[in-house]
Amino acid sequence: MQGKNYLMIPGPTPVPPKVVAAMSTPMFGHRTQDFQNLHQEIVAKLQKFFQTKNEIFVLTSSGTGGMESAVANTVNPGDKVLTLVGGKFGERWSELTRAYGAEVIEINFEWGTCVDPQAVKEKLEEHPDIKVVFATQNETSTGVVNDIESIGKIVAQTPALLVVDGVSGVGGIEIKVDEWHVDILTTGSQKSLMLPPGLAIQSISQKAWEKIEDNKSPRYYFDLLKARKSYAKWNTAYTPAVSLFVGLNAALDMMLEEGLDNVYARHKLLRDATRAAIRALGLKLMAEDYYASPVVTSVYAPDGIGADDIRKVLTKEYGITFAGGQAQLKNKIFRIAHMGFAGKMDVLIAISGLEMALARVGYPVELGAGVRAAQQVFLGVQS
Ligand SMILES: Cc1ncc(COP(=O)(O)O)c(C=O)c1O
Repeated sequence: MQGKNYLMIPGPTPVPPKVVAAMSTPMFGHRTQDFQNLHQEIVAKLQKFFQTKNEIFVLTSSGTGGMESAVANTVNPGDKVLTLVGGKFGERWSELTRAYGAEVIEINFEWGTCVDPQAVKEKLEEHPDIKVVFATQNETSTGVVNDIESIGKIVAQTPALLVVDGVSGVGGIEIKVDEWHVDILTTGSQKSLMLPPGLAIQSISQKAWEKIEDNKSPRYYFDLLKARKSYAKWNTAYTPAVSLFVGLNAALDMMLEEGLDNVYARHKLLRDATRAAIRALGLKLMAEDYYASPVVTSVYAPDGIGADDIRKVLTKEYGITFAGGQAQLKNKIFRIAHMGFAGKMDVLIAISGLEMALARVGYPVELGAGVRAAQQVFLGVQS
């Protein structure tokens, strides 16, 4: 469609004009005092976000590269690891750890449900030699948020490390790295952090460093020991994405100005309004209320209608892009992102477009019912 487009997928997400403007700063060298100052400033801000005193590495890579860094630095061939799988990104932990020769124990949770911490406890008791537990904070493929706090409490009582994929959640969903005993939190730039793709950010605990120092897996670009040497001088081992670092600083400023509690409350409000609207339209949500993601909502298409047909109408006629389902959910669900640079009016646009698209594909929709339900959530009035 010509004209205005509305990007409502769970990454990449819209980038605020302030961040775009910051990224157009003339290029400067990365072996300079200016870069060192910027790097130091960014890490201090990220430590507030991650609620940690740990070192935080800003890697120039997509989110999966950060995940690979976590695996390459902690897993030796033959090591026993536990992966918690409830969707596409949990599966990625299994694929990655297998690629590094680990003996992978997987706990599978039905897609659309959350990880049961009790099952993690039992598995760790059954296999006390598990070296690393790999979890996902926000399972983007299903719109489910996992209880990292409870998982962290359990893993902390064992010698195992807890590695958490926070790629889509961090920035929109609270995480307390130190208090929740997250040994490695790894995230990406292009989702709740409101930046273009290209950065993977990860924190490393002391417990993790001990395993990293002992690690024998081959690694080069993602060698965290090398990264730590450069970090000591606020440098990076290789050329960083300088413009994205500048953008990250601006995005962090925006979020800190808003206040972290307000950022998290905003995402929850957007989730609640989206879910109320979906229910008012008679559609089925994938996640239950208590573990529904604050940053992305997954919705089943009505019986007999393909989710991708609804998405096609939305894009073609209204310039709105929702994400589709992945793997076995393809054409069955659509996903509405409300992460990062998203506000109330974005939800109202998404829902009013959805109502029209549903009408176009032959679903009996009461126009305005979803929008009204969302407005009522925003106004704090009972439906
Ligand atoms: C939870 C989660 N983990 C990992 C990734 C992979 O990130 P990237 O595509 O940046 O490699 C994504 C991206 O969609 C994600 O949502």
